Amino acid sequence: MDWGMKNRLSRIIRPQDGHTVMLAIDHGYFLGPTTGLENPWKTIEPLVPYADCLMPTRGVLRSCIPPELDIPIVLRVSGGTSIVGPELLHEGITVSIDDAIRLNASGLAFSILVGAEYERDTLLAFSEICDMGEEYGIPVLAVTAVGREMVRDAKYLGLASRIAAEIGAHMVKTYYCEGFEKVVEGCPVPVVIAGGKKIPERDALQMAHAALQAGAIGVDMGRNIFQSENPVAMIKAVRAVVHENATAEEAYELFKTESGQQR
Ligand code: R5P
Repeated sequence: MDWGMKNRLSRIIRPQDGHTVMLAIDHGYFLGPTTGLENPWKTIEPLVPYADCLMPTRGVLRSCIPPELDIPIVLRVSGGTSIVGPELLHEGITVSIDDAIRLNASGLAFSILVGAEYERDTLLAFSEICDMGEEYGIPVLAVTAVGREMVRDAKYLGLASRIAAEIGAHMVKTYYCEGFEKVVEGCPVPVVIAGGKKIPERDALQMAHAALQAGAIGVDMGRNIFQSENPVAMIKAVRAVVHENATAEEAYELFKTESGQQR
């Protein structure tokens, strides 16, 4: 691995503990104005001090995020489908490597779809992204997208994560599931978990803690942070789990204290 690749990876994953809190804010690329991200910068600004990196699309990056901001960007470079269209899980490449470099991306994020009709298309497009990343020393995060019909179990997520790593991902984002240690064990590159749909804060913190215990190096979390009743308190609590080895209960107490909700 060359110096540039290592340097960018060390911006995404904190070298002090090998963990990361990635803040996913790319949902609009297929969901439109997602609740909490209608005005992206209004939501993101107070969260930035507690995130290790941001994961936006180039549109939100260019139009909503000040270029002076000192935070690494993992740029969403796949898309082309929508929640209302017929082929949600048939994403292609949406950003050229030239533009990713112009935007000073520290990493590229691409969704693959294993086990569905367009598996081959997404995996081959992903391999192109890996080649581009290698050429310029930019790490690639594989997002293991899950179709509506698919079961989010260790067998399936382990398969998708391993395939992503075999093709060339430097990091994999997947979903937490029972037996998650099997997913991590079978994946030779660092694994982070997505949060998924909004769930109660205590449950989201328990999930993050369980994922870390099973070997994940952090989270790439969106809705469970920015749709929380108190997003700043929630990202601080997630951060405590990821970087301070807090238990889920300790983190939830922190959430309550930070949000001033002594219940
Ligand atoms: C989905 O692929 C989007 O890229 C999101 O970034 C991802 O699902 C993580 O966000 P959330 O924690 O809201 O699921």
